[in-house]
Amino acid sequence: KDTSRPPLAYVKGVPLIKYFEEAIEPLQSFQARPDDLLISTYPKSGTTWMSEILDMIYQGGDLEKCRRAPTNIRVPFLEFKCPGVPSGLETVRDTPAPRLLKTHLPVALLPQSLLDQVKVLYVARNAKDVAVSYYNFYKMCKLYPEPGSWDSFLQKFMGGEVSYGSWYQHVQEWWELSHTHPFLYLFYEDIKENPKRELQKILEFVGRSLPEETMDLIIQHTSFKEMKKNPMANYTSIPTEVMDHTVSPFMRKGTVGDWKSTFTVAQNERFDAHYAERMAGCSLRFHWQL
Ligand code: PPS
Repeated sequence: KDTSRPPLAYVKGVPLIKYFEEAIEPLQSFQARPDDLLISTYPKSGTTWMSEILDMIYQGGDLEKCRRAPTNIRVPFLEFKCPGVPSGLETVRDTPAPRLLKTHLPVALLPQSLLDQVKVLYVARNAKDVAVSYYNFYKMCKLYPEPGSWDSFLQKFMGGEVSYGSWYQHVQEWWELSHTHPFLYLFYEDIKENPKRELQKILEFVGRSLPEETMDLIIQHTSFKEMKKNPMANYTSIPTEVMDHTVSPFMRKGTVGDWKSTFTVAQNERFDAHYAERMAGCSLRFHWQL
């Protein structure tokens, strides 16, 4: 099985991991259920964290049930396809309702059935931290092309020439959708700052309530420290030919503002100017903007 760093492939102008590109057409006939919940994010924005929080909610805080399988089985990743690992569409077939589903796709590549009837929980994260996290992930995950130097990767990130395309377009188009669709738009930094407040919002959104102790348990179980050592949440079950955690662990730092240790002053200035241009005219505001 050869998963050795194929170049990105384009679907409707969106760059994707080569294997994932092959999943887009079959995905279009996916039949969503009204009780599905879609977790949508641009990569590296807190998807795995939100998946664990939601599975804990759905399992009523039962730790053993949440250890039943790795994240990619508990929360099928719709467009996922890779030799040697069950695809997202295969996994979803065996997933009992109510299902949690994961995607990073831009709105234009989503199956209509999802858009017609499914609630969406979106998580956005500071673009600079996303870029740094993505760079390290590109290095460890062999489904991606070699990222090259940090400077050249940052340039590609700003130009939307990384897998899933432009961060700017992604956060904005899903923000637009949040005005017309059953939707909860959350921020990674807010969850870091006050997990209980955000958990309360999530519970309201999914129409559930839990006792105080269960909420505390969920917060503790889904902390970075706990998830990093949880083999069912840290992606160590993925074959090493696909993800090599010795290069950079999937659960890398889990902090806010780590970009400061990677961006040079010049890169930061360039990024800020480009960011202001790309986000101008958008009503989406990141109060945690750095
Ligand atoms: S993916 O591959 O796109 O699905 O990745 P994703 O899960 O969206 O993002 C990975 C980053 O999220 C961090 N992470 C967490 N941060 C805080 N708390 C918890 N529990 C948590 N779990 C995962 C993970 O470490 C990646 O960020 P970086 O900055 O690289 O550490």
